[in-house]
Amino acid sequence: MSKSLQAIRGMNDILPEQTPVWRYFEGTVSRLLDNYGYKQIRMPIVEFTELFKRSIGEVTDIVEKEMYTFEDRNGDSLTLRPEGTAACVRAVLEYGITGGGQVQKLWYIGPMFRHERPQKGRYRQFHQIGLEVFNLDGPDIDAELIVLTWRLWGELGIRDAVKLELNSLGTSESRGRYREALVEYLSAHHDKLDEDSQRRLKTNPLRVLDTKNADTQAVLVDAPKMADYLDDESRAHFEGLKARLDAVGIPYVLNPKLVRGLDYYSKTVFEWVTDKLGAQGTVCAGGRYDGLVEQMGGKPTPGVGFAMGIERLVLLLETLEQIPEEISRQVDVYLCAFGEEAELAGLALAERVRDQLPNLRLQVNAGAGSFKSQFKKADKSGALYALILGDDEMAQQVVGFKPLRGQGEQQSIAWDALAAHLATCVVQG
Ligand code: HAM
Repeated sequence: MSKSLQAIRGMNDILPEQTPVWRYFEGTVSRLLDNYGYKQIRMPIVEFTELFKRSIGEVTDIVEKEMYTFEDRNGDSLTLRPEGTAACVRAVLEYGITGGGQVQKLWYIGPMFRHERPQKGRYRQFHQIGLEVFNLDGPDIDAELIVLTWRLWGELGIRDAVKLELNSLGTSESRGRYREALVEYLSAHHDKLDEDSQRRLKTNPLRVLDTKNADTQAVLVDAPKMADYLDDESRAHFEGLKARLDAVGIPYVLNPKLVRGLDYYSKTVFEWVTDKLGAQGTVCAGGRYDGLVEQMGGKPTPGVGFAMGIERLVLLLETLEQIPEEISRQVDVYLCAFGEEAELAGLALAERVRDQLPNLRLQVNAGAGSFKSQFKKADKSGALYALILGDDEMAQQVVGFKPLRGQGEQQSIAWDALAAHLATCVVQG
C-alpha cells in the first residue's frame, strides 16, 4: 500500500478483536467513577496553542517539542491536545462552574496527541481517562483519588503488578527555595552533568532530578532534598495523605525524585508504575495543581487530578492475562435458516426473542448458504448455541437448539418457548 494511505506512525487503529478489552476496561472505570460520584465532561480535541503553553509550561518537553500545532484557515494557532487538564480547567473557567467555591469532581476520556518517539506503550495518538477535582484542598481528596485507582486495580486483577510512587513538591514558595538550592548545588557540578541536564539547569532545573544519565544521577546523590525544603503546610498535607493511605492499607514508595513532566504541580504528585511493560511503565499519574486555575485567569481554586493511559493498561491486562473470558465472546446465539420460508420465519422469530431478551447477543445468519457453511459461520462467531430452522423445524414450528461448545445434545424447542429457554442457558451481559 502506498505510504500516504497508511495510518500515521504512532497512531493506531484499534481493531475489532481488540475493542472488547478496551470496552471492558472503559466500562469498568466509568462504572467505578459513577459510583464515587464523578461526572463526565467532554472537551474538544483541538484548543488554542496558547492554552497549553500557559498551563503545561513553555519549557517542558511537551510544549517544546511534542505538540501537534498548526495554523487554521483563520490564521489562529491551534494544537491537538497533548493532555486533558488544561482543557478541563479552561472549560470550568469558561462556564463558571467552579465559581464561589463550587466543588467539581470531573472525569474525561479520549485521545491525546504527542509527537514522541513511538515504541511499545508510547504512541503519538494515545488515550487517557483523566479525573480533575476542583475546590477541595485537603489531603482527603488526594487520598480518594489514589484509593479509587487502588480499587480499580483490584477489580481488574492487576494490583500486584503496580506500585505507587509518591512525592510532595510543596507550595510554589517552598519549591522556589528548593529550586534555588538545587541550582546552586548543580551549578557547582556543572561539568559533570550530561548535556540535557546542563540545558535543563537553566530552563527547568527540577527536571534534572529525573534524568536517566548515570553520571548526573551520581551528582544528584548529595544534592539538596526537596523534603528538607517543604513548608509546614505542605508537610502537614503530605502527612495527612500518607496517614489515609496507611489507614486503607495502600502500600507506597516515597520517591523524592518524582517531579513530573508538566509544570503545574504543587504539593502531592504520584505515579502508578509497573515493571511488566518495559520502559513505558507509568500507567497512571497526576497530582495537585493549586496554582493553575489562577494562573489561567481564574480565582484561586485548588485542583487535583490524574490521568491513566488506556493503551498501557490494556497491554498490562493482556500481559497478565487478566481478561475475563466472557468479554471476548460477542455472540451468544447464532441463528441458521435454510430456504426462503425459513429465513422469513427466522427473522420474525429473532425479533420476538430480542423483544423479550434485549441483552441477548443474537446474530442471524446473513447471506444464506449451505448447511455446512452456515454452521461454520455459527462456530466461528464464538456463539454458545446455534438455532436451526430447516424444513422439518418449519413443519413442526420448532427450532433446533444445538450447543456449539460441547454442552449436551441438540434438542427441539417450540418457537413460543424459545426466549424462556434461552434465558435459562445464556448469562446475559
Ligand atoms: P502524563 O503523565 O503526561 O500526565 O500522562 C498521564 C498518563 O498518560 C501516563 O502515565 C501514561 O500512562 C499515559 N501517556 C502519556 N503519554 C503517553 C504516550 N505517548 N503514549 C501512551 N500513553 C501515554 C498528564 O497528562 C496529566 N494531565 C495528568 C493529570 C491530570 N494531572 C493532574 N490531572
